[in-house]
Amino acid sequence: MSGRFLFYSELLLRVLPEEDYALHLEALAEELPLGVVATDVQGRVLVWNRALAAWAGPRERALGQPLLEAFPLLAADTNLDWAGLIAAALRGGAYRELVRQPLGERLVRATVGPMRGPQGLVLGAVLSFQDITSSAREEERRRLQTRSEAITSLGAGIAHEIRNPINALSLNLQLLRERIADLPREAIAAKADTMIAELGRMESLVAHLLEVSRGGPPDRAPERIDVLLAAVLERLEGMAQHAGSRLLFRPGSRRVLHVDRARIDRAVHNIVRNALESAGRGGTVEVRTRDDPHSTVIVVDDDGPGIAPEDRQRVFELFWTKKRGGTGLGLPLAQRAVESHGGEIEVLERPGGGARFVLHLPIGQDEAAAGEA
Ligand SMILES: Nc1ncnc2c1ncn2[C@@H]1O[C@H](COP(=O)(O)OP(=O)(O)OP(=O)(O)O)[C@@H](O)[C@H]1O
Ligand SMILES: [Mg+2]
Repeated sequence: MSGRFLFYSELLLRVLPEEDYALHLEALAEELPLGVVATDVQGRVLVWNRALAAWAGPRERALGQPLLEAFPLLAADTNLDWAGLIAAALRGGAYRELVRQPLGERLVRATVGPMRGPQGLVLGAVLSFQDITSSAREEERRRLQTRSEAITSLGAGIAHEIRNPINALSLNLQLLRERIADLPREAIAAKADTMIAELGRMESLVAHLLEVSRGGPPDRAPERIDVLLAAVLERLEGMAQHAGSRLLFRPGSRRVLHVDRARIDRAVHNIVRNALESAGRGGTVEVRTRDDPHSTVIVVDDDGPGIAPEDRQRVFELFWTKKRGGTGLGLPLAQRAVESHGGEIEVLERPGGGARFVLHLPIGQDEAAAGEA
């Protein structure tokens, strides 16, 4: 804005006689919402507008004074050599912009530049100051708030993932406590095994979360993708029944891939769970697999409301959620898991309505060699 001020002041000088010029310049500066001070060639204050007077002292005290005396904050500033900047402007040096400059108690955006006459002659210096203290504070406040929201949802996400095993554990423990006297030894051992398995699941979940956040390499072992998927879908069958939706599996992959079972399990689990949540009562979720020449493809279709085109990339942003109680972690974690295998996830529209998620898991060198043999 002070660039514009300089432009107008030069324009005024061209069209007005000199004595009117000063008056008009002052009138122009007066209306600006930012603090403006202009000096003569000696660096004495000629213009000191209302916005500046509001925080840098009254105009009457400033007019005619050397700028640094009229504006003690500049003289006292240990961060910046204002005397040097003003001297450079008076010598006709380049216009300088200071984007975030602490000045006393405030944070300002400031500009310093020469004011030139018709033949390019330097007539003085112009400085402008915009108080950005409160907007900077507001920005900082927003940044902190976003961070604390992120931490809250991360906490919620982890809680949400470990609640199921904890529930199962506490149910089993309660049962044991009530019936330990009449239960046969084998039944107790079987209950203990279930609980150990639940604990194992929690442990691997935590390990998985840590690993995904660290982004380490996948821990690969040979797996039949169809077998892996059947296990995931079996675990989700209860949820499908509860939601009143159908969960169909059409296995079509015969390949053995070297994958990190836990990671692919979580990725597919998160995507199918979303599909079930979207399909809702009476809806259908269908999972299919096929072997393409360079990758094994997993397609998850649902006939829910689908995802608007503008949201299709956003669903992978950390903490992006449209669900009450959602964490927005399911898909970003799934994406990282698949990408750590060199694969990718596409979000499309299902023909006939609903969402389609397509996972591509590339075959590695081991599988390519096996294919040729
Ligand atoms: N199959 C789908 N159909 C429609 N929208 C979907 C589908 N899958 C994901 N979304 C949208 O993407 C958002 C992000 O999904 P993501 O799994 O990352 O988190 P979430 O499901 O909201 O939370 P959480 O997984 O913790 O329950 C969802 O809130 C939803 O708006
Ligand atoms: Mg989800």
